[in-house]
Amino acid sequence: MDPFIVDPDKCKNDSLCAKVCPTRIIQNATRKKPPAPVENFEEYCLACGHCVAVCPTGAFSLNWLSPEECPPIDRGFEISASQAEQFLRSRRSIRNFKKKSVDRKLLLRLLETACYAPSAKNNQPWHWTLVEDSAKVKLMAELVVDWMRSVMKKHPRIAKNRGFDQVVATWDDGHERICRGAPHVIVVHAEKNYGFAAEDCALALSYLELFAPKLGLGACWGGYFYSAVNAHPPLFKALGLPKNHRAFGAMILG
Ligand SMILES: Cc1cc2nc3c(=O)[nH]c(=O)nc-3n(C[C@H](O)[C@H](O)[C@H](O)COP(=O)(O)O)c2cc1C
Repeated sequence: MDPFIVDPDKCKNDSLCAKVCPTRIIQNATRKKPPAPVENFEEYCLACGHCVAVCPTGAFSLNWLSPEECPPIDRGFEISASQAEQFLRSRRSIRNFKKKSVDRKLLLRLLETACYAPSAKNNQPWHWTLVEDSAKVKLMAELVVDWMRSVMKKHPRIAKNRGFDQVVATWDDGHERICRGAPHVIVVHAEKNYGFAAEDCALALSYLELFAPKLGLGACWGGYFYSAVNAHPPLFKALGLPKNHRAFGAMILG
């Protein structure tokens, strides 16, 4: 199938598809000719789908994306600047959780929406590991504390600077300050040598954090958690991450 399909009956030759293309691989339409791909179109296409989404008549398709898959944005759901400001201003880290698990469908919706985050060259390098079992979350928090104890032994100054002494002392007093009793942890990870992995993963995780309250969920970055994933092999193994990956963020959630 052709990677690039224009329906001549619907095309108004406005060249909007060519104008929005970030890599300029669509030739402008002429009066007689609809827009056309340049040579090596597929090699340079970012697969961002702007060309399909922007076409007001649904004339433009890619072999992997049809106009029906880009439904129009519902203007009725648009929020005002004040609403947007309040939405962003009211985001807060949540550190108190109910014990019950979150419905899987809700978690998947959260993850799918997080993937609308921008990424360098639309690479979407993120992978998600979701810890669904709260008993496993507890065990993993314990592994984080094991790691903190080992850093306290080997590098006491670093441990003190990072506040490990306090976290471990409260753990010994029966208070869990790693995952805070959350029923779930989500770890975002990517190929460790990919240059934009840190930015792309942090953006996706931020989208996730912003959307969570709208699904009735609380979320908080787990900075200690993902630092431990990368530094403490037993935790990395318990999560089952691929060897060539690195964790770029974690969210405790419930
Ligand atoms: C990269 C990163 C790591 C964080 N790690 C932790 C953490 O390990 N534990 C925690 O309770 N909060 C953590 N936080 C949450 C911050 O403490 C919190 O965002 C900050 O205090 C501001 O509060 P707010 O998010 O409610 O506005 C982290 C935040 C970020 C961005």
